[in-house]
Amino acid sequence: MVKTWICPSLLGTDEKNTREWVEKLDGNVDAFHVDVMDNQFVPNYTLDRFAPPFISQLRTVSEKHVHLMTEIPSKYYNAYFEAGATLLVFHHEAVKNPIIDLNAIHSFGLKAGVALKPKTPADVLKDYIHNVDLVLVMTVEPGFGGQSFMSDMLEKIRDIREAHPALDIMVDGGINLQTAKTCLDAGANMLVAGHGIFNSKNVMHTVKQFNALKE
Ligand code: DX5
Ligand code: ZN
Repeated sequence: MVKTWICPSLLGTDEKNTREWVEKLDGNVDAFHVDVMDNQFVPNYTLDRFAPPFISQLRTVSEKHVHLMTEIPSKYYNAYFEAGATLLVFHHEAVKNPIIDLNAIHSFGLKAGVALKPKTPADVLKDYIHNVDLVLVMTVEPGFGGQSFMSDMLEKIRDIREAHPALDIMVDGGINLQTAKTCLDAGANMLVAGHGIFNSKNVMHTVKQFNALKE
């Protein structure tokens, strides 16, 4: 059985109180999810807001995961390693040879994940899946928080889970308590949620409810 992870996405916080939320939730969640965007791979830019020095200052018990939505992800591996990330995720669509990126991330002693945009089929993984610690199935088009969950991604999750019973499968985009449940049923075990947590009426209560999904 794979462990269930609850991973709030800091993109869902207001910039002025990101740090405050991290302090409040630290230890009550499994990891903080950090979305790094370069305005090239996706039409949004967060390299200033989530720059490595800021991430480094967040000294947390919960892990820090970095989801790189950038054209040349390898430019950032060293900086986010030094900032204390435990997992680096790059996009399959962004790199020429995923094995090189996986090896580069592993050389820092970090977990390496690969993300698939909604239109990218799971079978692209077949040549290098043995080197992957985690697959991130995008359940919206990457770039922005607050979009609606794409339920046609459930089949992709099921296919990956069927082929890889022990693999970590992360879902990201449009995850709320309802869609989280359907993703867990389909075989995902790591839930990223931005708006689903930070736009809820009572954030602490919502986190509690997310944590209850683990039982
Ligand atoms: C989208 C990002 C997500 C984003 C999810 O490109 O990768 O991590 O924060 O936001 P919600 O949960 O609001 O869809
Ligand atoms: Zn993300």
